[in-house]
Amino acid sequence: MKPTSSPFIAVQKSAIHNQGIFAAADIPRGARIIEYIGRKITKAQSVRLADLFLEKAKGNQDHGAVYIFELNKRHDLDGAVPENTARYINHSCHPNCEAQIIRGHIWIISRRKIKAGEELTYNYGYDVDHYEDHTCHCGAPNCVGYIVARAQWQKLKKKILHKQQ
Ligand SMILES: C[S@@+](CC[C@H](N)C(=O)[O-])C[C@H]1O[C@@H](n2cnc3c(N)ncnc32)[C@H](O)[C@@H]1O
Ligand SMILES: [Zn+2]
Repeated sequence: MKPTSSPFIAVQKSAIHNQGIFAAADIPRGARIIEYIGRKITKAQSVRLADLFLEKAKGNQDHGAVYIFELNKRHDLDGAVPENTARYINHSCHPNCEAQIIRGHIWIISRRKIKAGEELTYNYGYDVDHYEDHTCHCGAPNCVGYIVARAQWQKLKKKILHKQQ
């Protein structure tokens, strides 16, 4: 596997979590910034790995918990490989990038113009069912408090309300 790199980015300490990826130059909207690469795994392997990662991350704030990315209905990508520089991109509830699957490859693409020095983020799109495992520290004014797919925010708000009652 060849390491991914891009003249557009730099890995630096992040206020969101441990390390993050930052724009090293102005990036135009719609740019394919970097590919998210890794090991192709089955859904069963993916469930086992996710549990393992979460266990490892408990009690160690600096350890990134999950690097798994959904590829299609049958396979996921385990991005926890040193060659995958994109694994350092953090989640935000107000992201400036998005992940798109283009001909079987996962690309991180800018959703708007990004200025040099800004941290790159995308919404990880996690399912709301396990929201309590993934507290969000993105710091965005609209942060919902957990790493959850935008399409499931209404469901999340209902779950949180229900828990408070
Ligand atoms: C793909 S890694 C991102 C890189 C990570 N910051 C690192 O240094 O390894 C994903 C992990 O980073 C952490 N993370 C990413 N975005 C976060 C956020 N908005 N709030 C809290 N933790 C976050 C979580 O532990 C998540 O499982
Ligand atoms: Zn957030």
